[in-house]
Amino acid sequence: MIKSDSLLKNKQILLGITGGIAAYKSADLVRRLIEQQAQVQVVMTEMATKFITPLTLEALSGKSVYVVQDAMAHIELARWADMVLIAPATANFLANLTYGHAHDLLSTLCLATAAPICVAPAMNQQMWHAAITQENCQKLQQRGITIFGPAIGSQACGDVGAGRMLEVVDLIDSLQLFFHKTTQKVLITAGPTREHIDPVRFISNRSSGKMGYAIAEAASAAGYEVTLISGPVCLSSSTATISVNSAQDMYEAVMAQIKNTDIFISTAAVADYRPVKQAEQKLKKTAVTLQLNLEPTPDILASVSNLENPPFTVGFAAETNNLVEYAKKKLVAKKLDMIAANQVGIEGLGFDSEDNALSLFWQDGGLELARANKKILAKQLIDVIIERFNS
Ligand code: PMT
Repeated sequence: MIKSDSLLKNKQILLGITGGIAAYKSADLVRRLIEQQAQVQVVMTEMATKFITPLTLEALSGKSVYVVQDAMAHIELARWADMVLIAPATANFLANLTYGHAHDLLSTLCLATAAPICVAPAMNQQMWHAAITQENCQKLQQRGITIFGPAIGSQACGDVGAGRMLEVVDLIDSLQLFFHKTTQKVLITAGPTREHIDPVRFISNRSSGKMGYAIAEAASAAGYEVTLISGPVCLSSSTATISVNSAQDMYEAVMAQIKNTDIFISTAAVADYRPVKQAEQKLKKTAVTLQLNLEPTPDILASVSNLENPPFTVGFAAETNNLVEYAKKKLVAKKLDMIAANQVGIEGLGFDSEDNALSLFWQDGGLELARANKKILAKQLIDVIIERFNS
């Protein structure tokens, strides 16, 4: 069936086929990709040609199939691809990919491409569970390579277990989801803000940025395009980051980025007040008491949720007491899709700590995320946000 709204439409998919029995499914995969109006270029390893002929794949894809390495083919193919999909990917090929080998055309073009690489492993269940295969897959994922499957079931060798290549329809769904995510944008704020009193003094808070940075990494690992807007912290991120200082700076940066944002997550501990006037010179000690006049900062979160077309908006609530009551009030008052409440003021949780615990609330439900390292918690939070966003 041709889907006119397919996210695969016009996508240039380089399908790499390696030498495993599941290669017989590749013919159907090519056919389904073409049905989805993708352009498919097949590249096979020598071993794969023993399982399925290039002629079959040429007839289905309408393009010459590449097998043998030549002078420039790897560069041209690497540049042509919007995505490199290796299906099936044998244990041997996963190892080659992990260690950057360039034994043949397919492994060489994987080194040469800037396109995302996805693999659909297919192998005997014992080989899949082997420690080295698992270690290789972990390294590939850390490097941003997406792994589809494998499925569990009966295998060509008679074993039963994990290692079957995903069924073609499931692979197509995974590809659709992949392209769906990469077209979606997530904007995240993190860290504290600094509200200057004079050139050397400021009002701030204990936020380290760890929670927000972990959320940015988790969203990026899930395939989203992420922009992080960060107050002054001692962390670095692999996601695009805009550094700001004050609440006003953060407000302006968020408003400049918010267009086309699908999900906004406000993890930053934004100062609620700032000095009415910032002294141009360092204040001198002249009196016994010094009074600071403060005024409210812009409420960034409320400004986003009150936009005409707001993104899916997630706020945080940092509370020392009445956590649930105050968080639920903020959910309603700030017109949020979700709020993540955390207890602060307890050593080892919340501000400037490795761990946290979150109580999530939305209009008609909620979920507890038990105490865990912020990186683990961030992944769990992103999973819930994606589920709520898609529903
Ligand atoms: O950075 P870490 O050390 O890892 O600590 C993480 C954290 C404790 C800072 C984080 O988990 C957290 O709770 N962040 C929100 C802190 C906060 O300012 O909470 P709040 O309850 O005061 O604010 C409610 C919400 O409004 C927050 O989403 C906040 O980002 C937002 N806000 C607040 C004021 C303002 N002027 N603009 C805002 O957008």
